[in-house]
Amino acid sequence: MDDPIDQVVQLILEAGKVVVFTGAGVSTESGIPDFRSPGGIWSRYDPEDFTIQRFVADKEARKRNWQVRRELVSANYQPNPAHYAIVELEKLGKLSCVITQNIDGLHHTAGNSEENIIELHGTIKFSKCLECDDRLPLVDVLKRIEEGEEDPHCRKCGGLLKAATVSFGEAMPQDKMYQAERHSRECDLFIVIGSSLVVYPAASMPLIAKRAGAKLVIINYTPTEMDSRADVVVHAKAGEVMGAILEKVKQKRPSAG
Ligand code: APR
Repeated sequence: MDDPIDQVVQLILEAGKVVVFTGAGVSTESGIPDFRSPGGIWSRYDPEDFTIQRFVADKEARKRNWQVRRELVSANYQPNPAHYAIVELEKLGKLSCVITQNIDGLHHTAGNSEENIIELHGTIKFSKCLECDDRLPLVDVLKRIEEGEEDPHCRKCGGLLKAATVSFGEAMPQDKMYQAERHSRECDLFIVIGSSLVVYPAASMPLIAKRAGAKLVIINYTPTEMDSRADVVVHAKAGEVMGAILEKVKQKRPSAG
């Protein structure tokens, strides 16, 4: 069997616990640009503008940050076939969890269960106070900005408000890192979808899984630095191949009951 798609299908059929690890590439077919492809976000914005240090120190950077969040939220992006294929994996009882670097909330929108989604880099669905960690729906804060509050502060403690994402220089959520590491260690199949695998500690997850004995599949449009560690590599568009893979899994799986 040399067709990589068929190899992935076979690995899913044989697997008991599948971890899916997603990056921005799983959402580009929904219309959201990724970060490092040509034309991606870091070719249009300065990553330095998105560090926590700059956010705290520079009011103009905060305003630019809120503008980017407003564009992402108001565009009302929708899941694509890759997201729905991952929901299918959960429905088949194969999915241990989705570990995502994405903040777009599309795995929730597509229908994966909340408890099966680990958002390592947070979410734009909520804001957080940098002092007391109070959380609010982000749309409520964006409304305050539209009504003229250009640099929103926490109404409980006066601290700075920020989207509940993890910015460069900000601590990773320890509870989520622990959960992600545990799932990565315990799975028998780890599937990367749409990530360049260059940002740590998130990118350590496939290595943790591989070291613990899991099979590693990388589905990415372009080569990644971990391709040589993978058991199967598919260089293709996630929305196209994931739909085909799940269709074949459903055809070939032993019929339930
Ligand atoms: N199908 C498959 N792969 C795709 C698709 C697609 N439709 N579109 C893009 N890709 C691939 C690109 O080739 C690229 O290798 O997805 C990868 C996306 O890589 P990045 O843009 O680096 O995004 P990601 O890996 O998620 O970045 C990780 O970096 O800037 C930080 O916090 C940010 O969470 C982000 C982290």
